[in-house]
Amino acid sequence: MSEWWKDSVIYQIYPRSFNDSDGDGIGDLQGIIEKLDYLNELGIDIIWLSPVYDSPNDDNGYDIRNYYEIMEEFGTMEDFDLLLSEVHARGMKLIMDLVVNHTSDEHEWFKKYPDHYFWRDQPNNWNSVFGGPAWEYSEERDQYYLHIFSKKQPDLNWENPVVREKIYEMMRWWLNKGIDGFRMDVINFISKDPTLPDGPDGDGSRYFMNGPRVHEFLREMHEEVLQHYDCMTVGEMPGATPEDAQVYTNPDNHELDMIFTFEHMDLDQHSHEKWDFKKLDLIDLKENLEKWQHALHGCGWNSLYWNNHDQPRVVSRFGDDGKYRKESAMMLGTCLHFLQGTPYIYQGEELGMTNVTFDHIDDYQDIETLNMYEEKRAEGISEESIMQSIHVKGRDNARTPVQWSDAPHGGFTTGTPWLKMNPNYHDVNTEKERTDPYSVFKHYQELIKLRKNYSLIKNGTFELLHRDHSEVFAYERLIIDEKMTVYCNFSDSHHKFQRPEGDVIHSNYQGAGDGDEVFELRPYEAVVFYYFKNV
Ligand code: NOJ
Repeated sequence: MSEWWKDSVIYQIYPRSFNDSDGDGIGDLQGIIEKLDYLNELGIDIIWLSPVYDSPNDDNGYDIRNYYEIMEEFGTMEDFDLLLSEVHARGMKLIMDLVVNHTSDEHEWFKKYPDHYFWRDQPNNWNSVFGGPAWEYSEERDQYYLHIFSKKQPDLNWENPVVREKIYEMMRWWLNKGIDGFRMDVINFISKDPTLPDGPDGDGSRYFMNGPRVHEFLREMHEEVLQHYDCMTVGEMPGATPEDAQVYTNPDNHELDMIFTFEHMDLDQHSHEKWDFKKLDLIDLKENLEKWQHALHGCGWNSLYWNNHDQPRVVSRFGDDGKYRKESAMMLGTCLHFLQGTPYIYQGEELGMTNVTFDHIDDYQDIETLNMYEEKRAEGISEESIMQSIHVKGRDNARTPVQWSDAPHGGFTTGTPWLKMNPNYHDVNTEKERTDPYSVFKHYQELIKLRKNYSLIKNGTFELLHRDHSEVFAYERLIIDEKMTVYCNFSDSHHKFQRPEGDVIHSNYQGAGDGDEVFELRPYEAVVFYYFKNV
């Protein structure tokens, strides 16, 4: 089977915030169908749909009550079938989120089959990712159950072969419908050390991340399900190193096609604690991406991303969301899309959407944010400092609805949006972006086209240039007789460099790369040179 995902650009839809067709303030499947031509125009190949399954929405669909039903707010199974056929009719593919580390506590398995989960008379000391202990007491059973995420997300026990078979059966059901693959939620958490020992300071991650049987389970899943379909997989894997990724994504191992690393996303924090943030040191980012580029070249495959529904907006994070919003959004796109791997665009990234700074905690909806707020308030931390953390790192930054136009609520809904809009929708919206000749949208369109025109981007080697430069990220991609040199200025200063060989094939400025010997990078400028040597 061909590895089509290596030639693809993937677009992530967070359905709740994408487009509302019925005025209830919540995005839905018909809303996505309305916008498929837009996605086609952008040029993407694959859509990844965050969960659309029936769910009580404790964690916006990442708590699934029924894997075989569509969430009522999003529509019906008929709507889903129509969406799938309309995606295929436009030559695109659709992958679904697969959330099988845990279910909702309202799933019938949780009610009927205790052996599908982890029940203990005595909890261990693990903390949950969303704050508080990872164990919840049930009066009915007089026991505790494990939940690495919220207490409404009990962890499935993959040691039980019946659980695994039920999951495989469900995966086959969706693949038989014709979907093209899965993005697998925290899939490296599925194998736990069965003795569930205490962890240092309540951190149990060493006992549930990349656990003892994870490779065995993934190989079984491949054998039982994946190998029988022409599908792709990407596993979300907090804590995975390049060495782990070499095992997970090496095609000879029959596990996954690619994984999402978190390493580059954790560089602007002091520790594992995401709220403990610091300014990004560009040299750290360069060296980290270099490490991943080298580690997987020829033996696995990278996924490339700056954004998703869990991360703040990259233009606010690593760019400049004020004066140089457009320039820096474009530069970040260029920096990522010329690397080896499959790029992911998260809804709104192609517009340069930014973080939000809502004043009041009541304006936020995300369970992680709300729990953190309560916890830190109880510890006596000031309201101001907590709100500042939320503005920088909160997940709702990514979840404010997509800004389609200048109409009320950015054209997202005719009702009241479930989460407030970013007030900058008058300036930043798809309508404006599509008509403006200098737009982030057009820049992304071009990036996608360039990947299709130059196989070097897919196949070439990677060399980091100017390693110690703290404001410019430059690299070379090479293959036999072709070379690309990419320069990205992560600052608002001007920098001069020796001009590399070749012609400028892409930039976010007029007159980029001009100069015989030396050229200048302007604030947040990105420029790509291409050189073909006739041998
Ligand atoms: C990772 C998902 O991306 C995130 O949104 C979710 O809260 C957790 N996994 C739990 O499913």
